[in-house]
Amino acid sequence: MSYNLLKGKRGIIFGALDENSIAWKIAERVHEEGGTFVLTNAPIAMRMGKIKELAEKTGSEIIPADATNLEDIQNLIEKSMEILGGKIDFVLHSIGMSVNVRKGRHYTDLKYDWMTKGWDVSAVSFHKVMQTLYKTDAMNEWGSIVALTYMAAQRTFPDYNDMADNKAYLESIARSFGYFFGKEKKVRVNTISQSPTPTTAGQGVKGFGGFISYAEKMSPLGNATALDCANYTVSLFSDLTKRVTMQNLYNDGGFSNTGVSQEVIERFTEE
Ligand SMILES: NC(=O)c1ccc[n+]([C@@H]2O[C@H](COP(=O)([O-])OP(=O)(O)OC[C@H]3O[C@@H](n4cnc5c(N)ncnc54)[C@H](O)[C@@H]3O)[C@@H](O)[C@H]2O)c1
Repeated sequence: MSYNLLKGKRGIIFGALDENSIAWKIAERVHEEGGTFVLTNAPIAMRMGKIKELAEKTGSEIIPADATNLEDIQNLIEKSMEILGGKIDFVLHSIGMSVNVRKGRHYTDLKYDWMTKGWDVSAVSFHKVMQTLYKTDAMNEWGSIVALTYMAAQRTFPDYNDMADNKAYLESIARSFGYFFGKEKKVRVNTISQSPTPTTAGQGVKGFGGFISYAEKMSPLGNATALDCANYTVSLFSDLTKRVTMQNLYNDGGFSNTGVSQEVIERFTEE
């Protein structure tokens, strides 16, 4: 169903790799709601992913950019404004990567140069994107910036490894930058804390199968899907949420406020 909530709005969407990516679903929904955007991803993802398919489907152009590289980000923002014909109304940061997770390195045995790399990609890149948007004065008033996060920033999930720390940092950047973006440019900045979702990044986490079914049983409404996340993001990009800012917003079927569920109790009750 489409409500034209984003009619006339222009944006940049980071992180669509394939049809399982949360950013892919968000791009599809934003398109349905009348928004226009540029798609971007790391140059390496251009070869691996299917982003061209999404670009054709949504009538979008693709500009490769490594989200840790300031020159790439500057170029992306300038070209996006040219292509879209004006300043930006919405930005999605849907980027995460930990070298320690990828290489199976335990949290008590981290390699610190890998940790620094993952922190730069997963958290600092959000600051870099916002700082470039801010200095270029590229955002329209009442624009909206959203990044995706996970509840391991608040509670420990042992196999989430150093990504937990990256997410805590990412959420803090949203609050800190949200203050200045709000005051100076009337732009809002939020993070959505999403349920475990079967994507390339998600499935890279050890024990993901157990993780996702446990969350499903612990959430009164069940896990939020990528499509649910897309719908929530559309609402945050729309004018219906103009004064929601500096928040970490849970899209998780109630998981974060559930102590234990009946299903989980039954599993652990001996007959
Ligand atoms: N899948 C889950 O369970 C889950 C849950 C909560 C939050 N999230 C978050 O959602 C976001 C999107 O992840 P996803 O699950 O859709 O997986 P995904 O693997 O489809 O997306 C991750 C994206 O990050 C991009 N990326 C990596 N390094 C980059 C760089 N240097 N520059 C630019 N882009 C780069 C990848 O190319 C990819 O497109 C991430 O922030 C992730 O942590 C995922």
